[in-house]
Amino acid sequence: MIYAVAAMFEFSPKPGAAKPDLYHDLVRAGEALIDGETDGTANMANIAALIWQYIPDLNWAGFYRVNGNALILGPFIGKPACVRIALGEGVCGTAAASRKTQLIGDVHAFPGHIACDAASRAELVVPVIQNSVVIAVIDLDSPVAKRFDTLDAQGIEALAQSIAPFI
Ligand code: SME
Repeated sequence: MIYAVAAMFEFSPKPGAAKPDLYHDLVRAGEALIDGETDGTANMANIAALIWQYIPDLNWAGFYRVNGNALILGPFIGKPACVRIALGEGVCGTAAASRKTQLIGDVHAFPGHIACDAASRAELVVPVIQNSVVIAVIDLDSPVAKRFDTLDAQGIEALAQSIAPFI
């Protein structure tokens, strides 16, 4: 265990980086940030902050954790959000139940979308799978319609895979 008296983390995205490079750097920064730390809540909190720092045009970024038949709000950046979502409900519950990334260009067109922030237009939700079990989802919201594409989805999927054992 590493105890820091003072620690500064100078991770920052390269200006103008292409998405594959941006996400490659994000995954590496995430691994460095959680290296040696076993507390899942702390790790999720730092990963949420890192996503917020690296990915532009977001109004919410964070985690929901699977608990029985529901998702429960985890560490995040953004406006206060709904605490419990049933598996299968909303974009997050759909991602968790189907085990599939949900890439939504316009949340108003997604039946059952749960609006936590009226500003949200696009949403990307990626399941975090550990030992074949969905343990959480990473949820990104943007006020910009069609903000996310398959490169964003692949990038967050890579992040989810790399952090799964540590949250
Ligand atoms: N929009 C999500 C709910 C969570 S908030 O966006 C933070 C959904 O439909 O599941």
